[in-house]
Parts: sequence; structure tokens; C-alpha cells
Amino acid sequence: MLRLDGKIAIVTGCGSYAPGWGNGKAIAALFARQGATVLGVDIDAGAAEETRRIVEQEGNTLHIAACDVTDSAQVDALVAGCVARFGRLDILVNNVGRSEPGTPVSMDAETWRQQLDLNLTSAYLTSKAALPVMAGQGGGAVVNISSVAGMRWVGKDQVAYAAAKAGLIQFNKVTAVAFARQGVRLNCVVPGLMLTPLVQRLAERYGAGDYEAMVAMRHAQVPMGRMGDAWDVAHAALFLASDEARYITGTEIVVDGGLTASTG
Ligand SMILES: NC(=O)c1ccc[n+]([C@@H]2O[C@H](COP(=O)([O-])OP(=O)(O)OC[C@H]3O[C@@H](n4cnc5c(N)ncnc54)[C@H](O)[C@@H]3O)[C@@H](O)[C@H]2O)c1
Repeated sequence: MLRLDGKIAIVTGCGSYAPGWGNGKAIAALFARQGATVLGVDIDAGAAEETRRIVEQEGNTLHIAACDVTDSAQVDALVAGCVARFGRLDILVNNVGRSEPGTPVSMDAETWRQQLDLNLTSAYLTSKAALPVMAGQGGGAVVNISSVAGMRWVGKDQVAYAAAKAGLIQFNKVTAVAFARQGVRLNCVVPGLMLTPLVQRLAERYGAGDYEAMVAMRHAQVPMGRMGDAWDVAHAALFLASDEARYITGTEIVVDGGLTASTG
């Protein structure tokens, strides 16, 4: 069950913001454990290298590449390089994403554009490069990492991030329909409040630097009484990428400890 032997996978944002398990890092490590050949991609070569070191400590292999997934030329070269090196591309995980605070009034236009580029356009660019490859080889699986912020107000003003993550869910649906007949499946993982290294950054951006207070507030928001972690996201991504999910496309798995169920 849930083996990825023989599969070639690209995972974007395979590093993490700080030491510990971020979502992309856990996805890259888990896919390697499950037998995939993983090409981990990050704009920060040092962060990707750190993930490779950890994966190798586990006795597995992680190939890495530096790439800014908001740059179409770099993304095209990344996908072409993957196919040239490994012969195909079976799985694409669009994990890159990050939020900035603000309402339409307080957020400047440049931040708005950067947020949409990072959280939404990046998935368009990687899909534009990867989908023809997957369709041409008879199939593939794309997993887009969205956020409950794209479904609900989750306690902080982050208008561009929320709009982009909502857009990613619908981008996923309509693209899944367009490519269904070609054997390419697209699905979202929608994480809730997860305890990853990124929470340190959230405390700086949204909580006046008070990490403990930010962690306590996030735990308290969740019906299960605690945040999830990167492995909860990675396990859902693994299922959606695997052949066991062969009849699942154009939908989402919400991984949120009951958060959205309690705020509908
Ligand atoms: N942690 C949470 O609570 C939470 C909740 C919901 C959704 N998410 C989503 O999970 C995803 C990421 O989680 P993570 O824990 O891996 O985050 P992270 O910030 O720890 O790691 C992301 C990696 O992406 C890289 N990156 C940033 N910009 C890039 C670019 N332009 N091109 C290539 N790489 C780039 C960073 O260098 C970093 O190593 C995001 O999409 C985020 O929105 C997280």
C-alpha cells in the first residue's frame, strides 16, 4: 500500500523555514521512504541541501535543484531537466507558499502581486510545464498544498494568501477536469493549523514575536485541541499521489483536526 516505487516526483519547497519538519521537507522525505525518485526543489539551495542530508541519514536518496518556482524560465528548465535526467515525471507536489499580513487597504500592491505569484501562479507555471509531460506519458498525479485560509477566516488578516489559496483549490478543480481523460489527476491537500517551523515566522508577522502565545492560540482554535504537524500533511499528500487514489481527482483532503467543520 502507498508505495511509490518507480515513480519520479518533483516536490517544490523541499526545504524548511527553520530547523524541524516543514510540510515540503516531510513530503520529500516520505516519498523517498516510499520508493520514489524525488527531485526536491527550493529557491534556497542550503535549505534543500539540509533536507538531502536528513533523507540520506535515513538511508534514502534525495536529488535537489535550485529553482524559483515563480520564474517561468526556471520552472521550464527544471521540468525539462527532470525529464532529461530521469526519463519521465509521475508526481508533482506544489508545496511552495507563504503568507503576508494585510487587508486590501493595509497591503501594498507589490506584496499583493508577490503573494499571488508565490501561492498561486507558481502552481500554474509548474503545471504548464509538467502536465504535457504527464499527459504524453499516459498519466500522472499533481498534489497542490492549499490552506484552510482559502476556505475560512482563520484568525488573522492575510487577504492575498487567503485569496490565492482559494484560487489554488479552484485552479485544481478545473485543471483536473481538463486533464481527466489524459490520466492526470490533480488534488489538493488543505492543511489547517500545523505546528511547523513556519509558525515561528507567523509569530513574527502576526503575533508581535510571541511564539509561545501564537502556539497556544493555534492549539486552542482546533476542535482536537492541538495543531497537526508536517507528517499529517505528508501522509495525505502520499495518499493522493499514490496509485491507491487512482479514481480520485479534482478534490481536496482537509487535514485540520476538525477546524473547518467547527467553523462552517
Ligand atoms: N504550517 C502551516 O501551518 C500551514 C498551514 C496551511 C498551509 N500551509 C502551506 O504549506 C506549504 C509550505 O509549508 P512548509 O512547512 O514546507 O513551509 P516552509 O516555509 O518551512 O518551507 C517552504 C520552502 O519553500 C521555499 N521557497 C520559498 N519561495 C520559493 C520559491 N519562489 N521557489 C522555490 N522555493 C521557494 C523556502 O525556501 C522553504 O524552504 C505552503 O504552501 C503553506 O502555505 C502551511
